[in-house]
Amino acid sequence: MAEKLADPGSGALLPPPNLGAGLEGRGVIVTGAAGGIGRAVAQCFAAVGASVMAVDLDADAVEQVVAELPGLRHFALAADLTSMTSPHQIVEAATRQFGTIRALAHTAAVLRRQATVDAVTEDDWDRQLDTNLKATFFLCREVANTMVRGGGPGSVITFTSQGWWTGGFGGSVVYNTAKGGVVTLTRGLARSYGPTGVTFNSVAPGQVRTRMLLEGLDSDVLLAMTEATPLKRVAEPEEIAPVVVFLASDHARFITGATINASGGFLMY
Ligand SMILES: NC(=O)c1ccc[n+]([C@@H]2O[C@H](COP(=O)([O-])OP(=O)(O)OC[C@H]3O[C@@H](n4cnc5c(N)ncnc54)[C@H](O)[C@@H]3O)[C@@H](O)[C@H]2O)c1
Repeated sequence: MAEKLADPGSGALLPPPNLGAGLEGRGVIVTGAAGGIGRAVAQCFAAVGASVMAVDLDADAVEQVVAELPGLRHFALAADLTSMTSPHQIVEAATRQFGTIRALAHTAAVLRRQATVDAVTEDDWDRQLDTNLKATFFLCREVANTMVRGGGPGSVITFTSQGWWTGGFGGSVVYNTAKGGVVTLTRGLARSYGPTGVTFNSVAPGQVRTRMLLEGLDSDVLLAMTEATPLKRVAEPEEIAPVVVFLASDHARFITGATINASGGFLMY
């Protein structure tokens, strides 16, 4: 349920000037936590005092991420988010450990880079839509319902991409179609869950130095994308993580349905 707010103008609404306001000692879930951005998000949550449940397909890597987090009560869970049993399994483990869930940062995704539209296979379509869009809906719904039952507040942060806007190009249009769906889904869930006090926002990175960006990417394409970015560089994962923590924090309690453009000016909206 929505929290009772203090009187506007009384000063009582102002959060303390720390990035993770409201997250100290609270349980958060990070999916894709063994990935470049997910790992940085897990580290940033831990640094502000939150307890992290780190979820990833890669069991060994996600255990390693948790072993390196500062603070207590963090734990890892190996799960395939495309399995329809995963959302319940994740929520059950999180509530057992934390009692209530304060935030979900859902970074897990796959990119199948193909050179041309014609090279895209049915398996490419299914894998990317299942992982990036279908799994996002079922996980977000399960977590949000649990947040509502727990009495709120709760924050859900999904991951889209600059390609939600551009549509990508050639063989990447399928990945970007899913990412367009993530924006629409996030907006629809923000409207649906608004009255409960659970917020939904999406982060739209440009180019971030991770395995997903660099694997199989032509160096000329990377150079062209960097040239088209006013800041003239790719982002480090650590530059995306604080955006997520901000959206989960009390500072962002009146933000819902937003798509936060973190593209170094590659896109401007
Ligand atoms: N790196 C970029 O330039 C960039 C740009 C725009 C958007 N993004 C988005 O940012 C998010 C994080 O990307 P990244 O660059 O860190 O990618 P990454 O490849 O480094 O990490 C993705 C992680 O998701 C996990 N994962 C994939 N499928 C899974 C499944 N079915 N179940 C559980 N875990 C699964 C992988 O094991 C991996 O650890 C993604 O949503 C991506 O689409 C990245």
